[in-house]
Amino acid sequence: MKSQKVTLVTGSSKGIGKAIAIRLAKDGYFVYVTYYTDEAGGQKTVEEIEKAGGKSSLQKLDVSDEKSVSQLMALVEKEFGHLNVLVNDAARSIDKTMEDSSFDEWKLAFDNKLHGAWLSIKYALPLLKKGENANVIMISSTADEHPSQEVLSYAIATAAVNSLTKALAIHLPAYGIRVNAVMPGPTRTANWGELEKDDQLWKNFAETNPMKRVTTTEDITDAVMLLINDPHKFLNGNFLFVSGGSHLK
Ligand SMILES: NC(=O)c1ccc[n+]([C@@H]2O[C@H](COP(=O)([O-])OP(=O)(O)OC[C@H]3O[C@@H](n4cnc5c(N)ncnc54)[C@H](OP(=O)(O)O)[C@@H]3O)[C@@H](O)[C@H]2O)c1
Repeated sequence: MKSQKVTLVTGSSKGIGKAIAIRLAKDGYFVYVTYYTDEAGGQKTVEEIEKAGGKSSLQKLDVSDEKSVSQLMALVEKEFGHLNVLVNDAARSIDKTMEDSSFDEWKLAFDNKLHGAWLSIKYALPLLKKGENANVIMISSTADEHPSQEVLSYAIATAAVNSLTKALAIHLPAYGIRVNAVMPGPTRTANWGELEKDDQLWKNFAETNPMKRVTTTEDITDAVMLLINDPHKFLNGNFLFVSGGSHLK
């Protein structure tokens, strides 16, 4: 079974994670698709993978819950015994300023984006050590570049995710595991809540982007594949901005 490439994409019931899961399946990976609250969304991801001729398994996962993460990794151990690619995509946060946030709201982004990535890597590590061309991909964000008061906890949790990426990119290559981050600019997904439907907002994002358009999920999946499929297996510790350059402004 070692010849079967295996990946786990956290948060693949919708949005960016869904697009990455489908793309990896098309590239021959068996994909563990995970949902947290949106089982129907996860089912749709699995159906699209099947339609594309790929193979997957739908699993419930709460990345902020140690037992949930360890149980899923135990299942991967039982079914395949190794993991080639872990994509840390899952995130949840509340967009508020410090004045408007409760302590629990502040902690939400850390529990999901930061602790979720830490837990997923911790429990995936024994499996990744046994995987060929093993990769950890962090779906980070450009939010750390110009931390905004309106998304304070998300921006600071993202900064910590980037530090974790740097630390692990130094330590994990000893086990044959590369660690890279993909940094999308604003991407039109459900993550934006009501703002996803705000055409004017997305027009403004496009007009102010040096490339005159916004990031798409296809841009992000191509960046992920570029990092994983590096023919020299040397790309490690990179922060690949998929923003059209908007993060520089
Ligand atoms: N959209 C953007 O503009 C943008 C820009 C830069 C970076 N990013 C990053 O890209 C990633 C994906 O964002 P997106 O826009 O695709 O968001 P999205 O459409 O809201 O999807 C978020 C995914 O995370 C899952 N999730 C949330 N909490 C979870 C938990 N505790 N345990 C496991 N899964 C959980 C959700 O599952 P359920 O729906 O099943 O609950 C969903 O599958 C995030 O890390 C985000 O920070 C997004």
